[in-house]
Amino acid sequence: MVQTIPQATSLRGTVALPADKSISHRSAILSTLGEGRSRVYNFPTSADPQSTLDCVRTLGIDTERDDEGVLTIRGRGLEGLRPPSTPLNCGNSGTTMRLLSGVMAGQKFGSVLTGDESLRQRPMERIADPLQAMGARITLRSDHAPIRVRGTQSGLNPIEYRLPVASAQVKSCVLLAGLYANGRTVVIESTPSRDHTERMLGLEVQEVGGERYVIVEEGHTVPAANWSVPGDFSGAAFFLVAGTLVPDSELHLDDVGLNPSRTALLDVLDGMGADITIENERVQGSEPVGDITVRSASLTGIDVGGHLIPNLIDEIPVIAVAAACATGRTEIRDAEELRVKETDRLHAMAQNLTALGAEVQEREDGLIIDGNGPNLLGGTVKSYDDHRIAMAMGVAGLVAHGTTTVTDAECARVSFPGFWDELARVASSE
Ligand code: S3P
Repeated sequence: MVQTIPQATSLRGTVALPADKSISHRSAILSTLGEGRSRVYNFPTSADPQSTLDCVRTLGIDTERDDEGVLTIRGRGLEGLRPPSTPLNCGNSGTTMRLLSGVMAGQKFGSVLTGDESLRQRPMERIADPLQAMGARITLRSDHAPIRVRGTQSGLNPIEYRLPVASAQVKSCVLLAGLYANGRTVVIESTPSRDHTERMLGLEVQEVGGERYVIVEEGHTVPAANWSVPGDFSGAAFFLVAGTLVPDSELHLDDVGLNPSRTALLDVLDGMGADITIENERVQGSEPVGDITVRSASLTGIDVGGHLIPNLIDEIPVIAVAAACATGRTEIRDAEELRVKETDRLHAMAQNLTALGAEVQEREDGLIIDGNGPNLLGGTVKSYDDHRIAMAMGVAGLVAHGTTTVTDAECARVSFPGFWDELARVASSE
């Protein structure tokens, strides 16, 4: 699908956001491992969380969605999964593959995890290494999926694992495997990553010497539960930048997840001069949520790097769009992880923004963007089959003079199925 985006003169209204992708995956996996019926309110139709649901069904779990969109999952406990008769197809979803690998490592039966072409090119030794250290029998194909897991009859060995790369997916993989360990498993992170897994599992977290120690005790059980998934902050990010850049705009985003390990974008946009307010802050289950309003503002360049990066890792493509439309230089550093996402996001954004007339230098670990105000020129850009690249370029299209075309734009459905409709619905153009 080719998406055409005319330049917008104004954005107004309330944006319907999909449910948070990270929390959705975890709610499905924890409901599966719980004993008995769990319910998930607001489980999204986005392709990635649906990949997790497909996998748990392949493991013998019954799931059912009612007319109001409430998902019921009948968990069978930590030991109740059934040997799959086919490979677990994780689609495009790195979270599905990495988190479920931790669960599969602890099973008595074997399994194979695979995915689409993009996922089969993403690094998996980062999870195979700690799982092998726990005694799991896992093989990769040249560091990539398909991942072949042979069963264990005696459980896993507990480890104390210091994450070599700041990754919530790797952390969560080891924590889930820790549920099957004969002893206490500790994951240590020196740079904090999103903490949904430890919140939702109710794990002990200690701060020692500036590092976080996340602990799974032997015998930790996963109760059946009712989960309510908030709106996706990472989906909101596109509208926060769009509402800032398009003149005469006021957008409302309600019930958005505001977990502090995910919201550094708000600080970055604030530092650039954005006009964003948050109201009705409250707690929903284990997660903070609130309602956000964004109004148009002029931006100036900023430096983004260091410990902030994991907190806004998925927002960097749209930060690059904000930077291209700001005044002055923005330098994004320490973001080499972007090269191993659904596509090489540093390269994709450098190519796409340059195609619209921006001044962008691609660095090994980031981008240097010399913003020239809202002066992008409409043109044709590629999604690289990456949902966040497609949506970031959709935002660029709203600001660029003339019309912008995004090719292979349907991939937005991976995390935000209604994205293009929402964008068109809130936009006015002459
Ligand atoms: C995620 C963690 C991040 C993020 C991804 C979702 C999660 O990946 O980019 O979209 O739900 O744990 P990494 O942990 O690999 O950085």
